[in-house]
Amino acid sequence: MSNPAELHPVPSGFAGPGTISRAGYERDYARSVQDPDAFWGEAARRLQWDRAPTRVRNVSFDPADFRIRWFEDGELNASVNCLDRHLAARGDKTALIWEADDPATAPLEVSYRELHARVCRLANALRNLGVGKGDRVTIYLPMIVEAAVAMLACARIGAVHCVVFGGFSPNSIADRVADCGSRLIITADEGLRGGKTVPLKANVDAALKLPGTNTVETVLVVRHTRGAVDMQMPRDRWYDAVVDSQPDTCEPERMNAEDPLFILYTSGSTGKPKGVLHTTGGYLLYASYTHEAVFDLRDDDVYWCTADVGWVTGHSYIVYGPLANGATSLVFEGVPNYPSVSRFWEVIDRHRVSIFYTAPTAIRALMREGEAPVKKTSRASLRLLGSVGEPINPEAWRWYADVVGDGRCPIVDTWWQTETGGILISPLPGAIDTKPGSATRPFFGVQPALVDANGTILEGATEGNLVITDSWPGQMRSVYGDHQRFIDTYFKAYPGMYFTGDGCRRDEDGYYWITGRVDDVINVSGHRIGTAELESALVLHPKVAEAAVVGFPHDIKGQGIYAYVTLKAGEDYSEDLRKELVRHVRSEIGPTASPDHIQWAPGLPKTRSGKIMRRILRKIAENAPDQLGDTSTLADPSVVDALVKDRFIPG
Ligand code: WTA
Repeated sequence: MSNPAELHPVPSGFAGPGTISRAGYERDYARSVQDPDAFWGEAARRLQWDRAPTRVRNVSFDPADFRIRWFEDGELNASVNCLDRHLAARGDKTALIWEADDPATAPLEVSYRELHARVCRLANALRNLGVGKGDRVTIYLPMIVEAAVAMLACARIGAVHCVVFGGFSPNSIADRVADCGSRLIITADEGLRGGKTVPLKANVDAALKLPGTNTVETVLVVRHTRGAVDMQMPRDRWYDAVVDSQPDTCEPERMNAEDPLFILYTSGSTGKPKGVLHTTGGYLLYASYTHEAVFDLRDDDVYWCTADVGWVTGHSYIVYGPLANGATSLVFEGVPNYPSVSRFWEVIDRHRVSIFYTAPTAIRALMREGEAPVKKTSRASLRLLGSVGEPINPEAWRWYADVVGDGRCPIVDTWWQTETGGILISPLPGAIDTKPGSATRPFFGVQPALVDANGTILEGATEGNLVITDSWPGQMRSVYGDHQRFIDTYFKAYPGMYFTGDGCRRDEDGYYWITGRVDDVINVSGHRIGTAELESALVLHPKVAEAAVVGFPHDIKGQGIYAYVTLKAGEDYSEDLRKELVRHVRSEIGPTASPDHIQWAPGLPKTRSGKIMRRILRKIAENAPDQLGDTSTLADPSVVDALVKDRFIPG
């Protein structure tokens, strides 16, 4: 369990010349919130601007007079900041290291110069295909160098990229393509994960047969596994055939700081996934600054974030942050347990990784395998460990620190969201003593607060809903195509404040402890899934009358998916149907959305007005039938007894 008194001081000898000290943090944090214009105006100099901004922030969270604008008269190009800017001093430095799924495949090292050339070739090809500033491009790729190249090539010509995670199904691709109106898709023949192929091109083909996707004119296909695919001419073009002959320089588009850089879809508590829109200047500045400060970045670091580029962590902390900082960033195609559960640690030794950033779900899964697979590797290159995506339980934190880090490496538990663009709450590793399970203190300029259900700000050691009271440069700017939904989702619950959707505790030392989502979002292995999406997928099945989905605590995944399903009259419950429903949800959304448990429900607990009482369903799923609370307001309290009787009991 967490013990609030357990304090892990900064390991002696950790700090280097650029490390932010305790006093430095306190001083700069105070300055950043007292005079944000001066603080961020100065911070903006870390980027290379074509036109330096004269205005820093123009922000109002008031729903009636809403605006979030940073550096609004500045102009820059994100790809120039990630590439061209480094060519003179570090052109030959390795920008990306690619480690394949199969350790027998030779790794690739791509220098800044080579990456620049590759990005320019693709950018030229995209322009020739008629893609220009403001056009949307969908990227559906495995974890290969081309994923970063594709993002940066879009940024170079001002096209807005929308990366769709390679684990998503054709339906999910189609929804996203239709929502943002993509003109072009960049994909690969197949992906490769844990020795198994993923039919990426076939998924795109299936997606493009679905309604709303006819904006797509071109599909560029990277030859990766060289597995057989259907090429439909003239729509489908081989990437190498179109790109390799292009010139390796390309005039960058001059972008306003507030021009869109990318859209990334994420699940909310209601409706379809939202297209989170990030813009160019503030996002890039925030990703690069947090990446340097939180990871105490030094020039000779080899930095590895194990996320997929399909998630925001891959955007900010594999591609944009590290490359803007001229760092060496490792791109890993595979999975933690292939070919063995030592893989992470072997990759660390192979490439002498010094900073390692992963998710609690991976740590918990590897912890279950014991210490031996870790201890047989050296890991001597490691100096800093990071965690992201979900609350890390103190047991996993200690194992990460003691076994993986040999007690030498500080842990940065970084709390943030797709919406925030970058890390908002995290220790700075040389400045803050850590506590297992706490994301500790806010980053510069970030003003967290805890509110009660009425929106009253709570002071001191307390627990409440986590809000951020003022803007930071990396904040999302809109929901693509639905600005009102952005305001309604994040700024209406507690007017004048950004509501995160997370619950949180603050202790006597002012440390923040994220307790998890307080809305209807389930965090499965660090992946956000809305219960509303799962329910609509289930009721699409012809035999399902009604479904209600809740999360429950899961040892490895953090949270699992528990679905209550009522069948249409005349349909029979069976194990075969249960399996069919799991397959159905996987094909509607993707494998990450697989329900862990499906319980047949003769009826669902509803109020007299017909609202499903999820609180009760959550308690049953948590196997806590003695904590159901008051059920007397239900239209038919007897349905609860039936659900309790048939609930899934772990063990
Ligand atoms: C959760 C991932 C506790 C949280 C970067 C948040 C965390 C959601 C942490 C965002 C952490 C992320 N401790 N919880 N260190 N990091 N979360 O948008 O519930 O995929 O709201 O962004 O993950 O997930 P998203």
